[in-house]
Amino acid sequence: MKRSSRVTVNPSALQHNLQVAKNTAVNSKVNAVIKANAYGHGAVATAGILYPYTDGFAVSCIAEAIELRQAHIDLPITVLQGHQSIDDLRIAQQYQLRLTVHDTRQLSLLDQYTHHYRFDLNIKIDTGMHRLGFHLEQTQPVYNTLKTHRCVNPDTLILMTHLACADDVDTTYTTQQLRTFNEASKAINIPKSIANSAGILAHKESHANWIRPGIMLYGSSPFSHKHRDDLNLKACMTFNAPVIAVHTLKKGDSIGYGATWKCPSDMSVAVIACGYADGYPRHAKSGTPVFIHGEEAPLIGRVSMDMIVVDIDHLKENNIQTGDIAELWGENISIDSVAQNAETISYELLCNAGNLCSHHSF
Ligand SMILES: Cc1ncc(COP(=O)(O)O)c(C=O)c1O
Repeated sequence: MKRSSRVTVNPSALQHNLQVAKNTAVNSKVNAVIKANAYGHGAVATAGILYPYTDGFAVSCIAEAIELRQAHIDLPITVLQGHQSIDDLRIAQQYQLRLTVHDTRQLSLLDQYTHHYRFDLNIKIDTGMHRLGFHLEQTQPVYNTLKTHRCVNPDTLILMTHLACADDVDTTYTTQQLRTFNEASKAINIPKSIANSAGILAHKESHANWIRPGIMLYGSSPFSHKHRDDLNLKACMTFNAPVIAVHTLKKGDSIGYGATWKCPSDMSVAVIACGYADGYPRHAKSGTPVFIHGEEAPLIGRVSMDMIVVDIDHLKENNIQTGDIAELWGENISIDSVAQNAETISYELLCNAGNLCSHHSF
């Protein structure tokens, strides 16, 4: 039995947003990032929609890549975390996956691999994210090792790094990372990949040979200071839930757990069947907009596990009833505004709603 909240994904918005990435970085190939179940949108369906327009896909781990291959997605697939075991290498060979090599343990696993196979590899260097990647001084020796390694295809090597602050208004950190990357890679004449969505949109110098757009594909702004409309991005995911009760409350009545919100006057409220169990953020503040009958209705009181309450007093003319459908985010309510109200980022909301919501369709 499915819950009543619903996630719907708009395929043409996904294609439009990919086209925005391509138009912004016209000389770069595209590695569309569809990790974490395509940020909650559904990895296989998203890959199917983007397939004719992208040059490859990037996922986090081997399991995500297998899912795509088993669904007959035959474009290059990059595993951003790379292999963690000999068994991963065996699977990468079987499914022809591109691996990311970012530490010396992965090099020794390659040394131990006894099969005759040449892997396609990304070499990842750390220019300031301090998450994954070789130290700068290892760049040249690692490249020298890999380009002559019996298990590596030297013709398909890509050098990559990841930007930590490309979404910042202050560009100092990104400029430093780009300078560091260029310095470390200047003698290494292979394709390069640097830019995530914020890099693509704000730092032309980061475009290089391959871009790696993620969040922008899903129609969300990577910048806190820019709305998706300013970037010509279209919302892909719509998150809806039905009204399951409408009440008139008295001045001073409180709403929900903790009785944190009190009615300033007699007023009408609607209860919507969606809460943190469905992926709506528990920390969304009172005032977070919900869209109902063509207008915004603010959230009031705490978000419960499977319900929220909204103020519909100003919508009386609209005669809101049980069964009416509210939009939690989508074309009318920007997910970025919900994220800001919940002191989080759209990435988290998309993943949570997409992966928790039991009704998911394209
Ligand atoms: C290595 C790498 N490249 C690209 C991306 C895409 O980033 P974004 O969603 O900010 O475009 C990610 C996602 O976190 C990533 O880990």
